[in-house]
Amino acid sequence: MTTGSADYRDSGLTFPDGFLFGSATASYQIEGAAAEDGRGPSIWDTFARTPGKVLNGDTGDVADDHYHRYEQDLDLIRDLGLDAYRFSIAWPRIQPTGSGAVNQAGLDFYRRLVDGMLERGITPIATLYHWDLPQPLEDAGGWPARDTADRFADYARIVGEALGDRIGTWTTLNEPWCSAFLGYGSGVHAPGRVSEIESLRAAHHLNLAHGQAITALRGVVAADAQYSVTLNFAVARPGGPGGKEAVRQIDAIANRVFTGPMLKGAYPEDLFADTAAITDWAFVEDGDLAAIAEPIDILGVNYYNTASVQLWDGVGEKRGDANHNLSAGTPYPGADRVEFLPLPGPKTAMGWNIAPDGFEELLLSLHRQFPGQALMITENGAAFDDVVAEDGRIHDVERTDFLRRHFAAAHRAIEQGVDLRGYQVWSLLDNYEWAYGYSKRFGIVRVDFDTLERTTKDSALWYSQLVKTHILPDAPAAG
Ligand code: FCB
Repeated sequence: MTTGSADYRDSGLTFPDGFLFGSATASYQIEGAAAEDGRGPSIWDTFARTPGKVLNGDTGDVADDHYHRYEQDLDLIRDLGLDAYRFSIAWPRIQPTGSGAVNQAGLDFYRRLVDGMLERGITPIATLYHWDLPQPLEDAGGWPARDTADRFADYARIVGEALGDRIGTWTTLNEPWCSAFLGYGSGVHAPGRVSEIESLRAAHHLNLAHGQAITALRGVVAADAQYSVTLNFAVARPGGPGGKEAVRQIDAIANRVFTGPMLKGAYPEDLFADTAAITDWAFVEDGDLAAIAEPIDILGVNYYNTASVQLWDGVGEKRGDANHNLSAGTPYPGADRVEFLPLPGPKTAMGWNIAPDGFEELLLSLHRQFPGQALMITENGAAFDDVVAEDGRIHDVERTDFLRRHFAAAHRAIEQGVDLRGYQVWSLLDNYEWAYGYSKRFGIVRVDFDTLERTTKDSALWYSQLVKTHILPDAPAAG
């Protein structure tokens, strides 16, 4: 674990020309307007209304009201000088039932949003799926059902036909690990099902959806469009007896279950062995692997923290997973003996350890595993318990320090040859943090959830300085 003082020596580092600095959000977390202009219900609308699933019963009904305030939010992005904005498109706004009829008002909203970016000189990075599956598709089986992948390809084609002339970067899925294993394995995310076999089926159909969506898009969007997928990689380290084996198992079920088929055209053999007691993977049909391995241009990387693992000796209680502590079942099928060890501080308000060294380690590891693969940080950031000071400002020095140390780590990776194209900070705005509701603030811009007023935090001012100069500031911008 690196310490703050060591990192300060990294200050003054310069990022390459063309490096795409930006920030990220997701539709359900910010838009609100849940029942407006023909939007259908998603699995998150349902899950949020299920007692006990989300802290305080919070829903995304209003969220940041971005649906109505998007012009103001785009002005904020422009005023900070950001190059790019990573946003997601809500499938239930485009196809309220997840298949068939297209809702023109939904397409119009995203056309206005993207045009607003282009007018302000902001590069759009669109994600097609950030977890808001239309509820009727879940009722028909959800991601464990193969048909959902076909429906996703149809949806991708519809969006591509409508917006393909103005969006240059297309990300198919955000964090399919969460969709599959938190959604259908441990059940802490929508739709909240708890089944190891279903979560593995979901993972495969998400992989298939990714490949089929790129094929669908290629037929209809600009020829020079870039394709990507965003994965949240587990950075597990051996923390005790059997640690190396525990790391292998987590790497298989959290990382290689996606990078194998997507980037190498095959599922890892050790994953089949680990999960043999759960499934024979007969749901992988002829031709699927070729469909999934559709080439991508950019691999999106979301990074927040590390994990320390060992194998349980079978005595006493198995320790829990500190990073998914809302967990009921297991989000790691086939890795039942892996114990996640408590990690030392410092930590964010999520209880996640702060580990910029793990960020560098991950980027170098991806560079080694997939030589020549361009990468983009599609999420990195931190929740802290912000305080509004007497001057009305948010002096979020911890968030600024977190970002500075992670940008320094990314810079070290670039210097070692990693082809890193950009960095999207999570998040532009405080927003709906899934099962934590509105209790966790990740924004570089504060949102008052009563008045919906936006206030730029000090971390945003610091970031703005980095974006405008390309030189990493060594201290927060003066308040
Ligand atoms: C990621 C999600 C994003 C946000 C951050 C904190 O897993 O993609 O929506 O919730 O975590």
